[in-house]
Amino acid sequence: MIVYLNGEYVAREKALISVEDRAFLFGDGVYEVIRAVDGGLFAAGPHVTRMTEGLASLGIVLPEGEGVAELLGIAARLLRENGRDQGDATVYLQVTRGSARRTHYFPPADTPPTVYLSSATFTHPEGLHEEGAKAITVPDIRWARCNIKTVNLLPNVLAKQRAVEAGATEALFIRDGVLLEGSSTNAFAVIDGTLRTYPDSNYILPGITRNIILEIAETLAIPVRLSPVLVEEMHRLDELFITGTTTDVLPIVTVDGRPVGSGRPGPLTRRLQEALQQRLTGSAGLSD
Ligand code: PDD
Repeated sequence: MIVYLNGEYVAREKALISVEDRAFLFGDGVYEVIRAVDGGLFAAGPHVTRMTEGLASLGIVLPEGEGVAELLGIAARLLRENGRDQGDATVYLQVTRGSARRTHYFPPADTPPTVYLSSATFTHPEGLHEEGAKAITVPDIRWARCNIKTVNLLPNVLAKQRAVEAGATEALFIRDGVLLEGSSTNAFAVIDGTLRTYPDSNYILPGITRNIILEIAETLAIPVRLSPVLVEEMHRLDELFITGTTTDVLPIVTVDGRPVGSGRPGPLTRRLQEALQQRLTGSAGLSD
C-alpha cells in the first residue's frame, strides 16, 4: 500500500516518522477521515474547512500554497494508486506540529509540520445497520475543546474499549447530566416526533455527517431541536442513532442494556439512513 508522508508517496513500511514528532510525544496534531465513493471524496469541502479551523486553533501553520485543500489531490491520487477508486473507501489525513527537541512550548517557527495521508477500503459490519447496535453510557472525561479534531484521543479510546468489553458498538459520553456524543460519532434522539441533538459547542465535534443529517431533516420537514438530551429523558426515547463518516446513520436499539423505544430501529432513523445512503451513492465519483 502506498501512503503519502511529507511530500513523498512511499510504501507504508517505508513511511517513518521521527521519535521526536510532536504527535508521538504530545498528541500535538489534527486529523480527518473522509469518505470516498468510487474515487470521489464525499463532503470534501466541510472536511477541509474543519481541518483548516483545527490547525488555526492550535497555531499549526502549513507552508504557503500547501494548505489543506491542496491535500485533496494527494487523497485522490492515493485512492487511484491503491486501486480504491471503486466502491467505498476512506482517506485518513493527519497534520502534526512537526518534529523537534521535546519542549512543552511550541518548537521554532520554521519547524515543518508532518503531513501524512493514507487510504483504506471500507465496509460496514454485516447486519448492524439493519438490526441496530448496542451502546453504553460513560462519563465524559475529555477536555473542553472537543470541537477540535485532535489526535489526542485517549478518553475516546478508553470509552470505545469499555463499549467493546460490554459487547456494545459505541460508548455515549455523558457530562453534567446530558448526552453529548459518542466516542467516535455524534448522537441523535427522537422524542415525541422531534429530532434532538446536542447544539454546536466546544463539548462536541461538529460532525460532517451530523450537519448533513440536519440538512436532510430540514428537507424532509422533520422537526429538529438543537438541545441536549437529558439523562432523565433517556428512558423515554422513541429512537436513538449515531452518525459519522465511517458509521453513516446507525440505529441504537439498547443503551446500558435497556431497549430504546420498541427495541427496533425506528421510522425516522430509517428515513434518514436511506436519505444519507442516497446522497452517498449520488456522490459516487464526485468530490464536493
Ligand atoms: N470520528 N464525534 C467524534 C468524537 C468523532 O471522532 C467523530 C468522527 C464524529 C463524527 O464526525 P464526522 O461525521 O465528521 O465523521 C463525532 C472519525 C470518523 C474517527 O475518529 O475515525
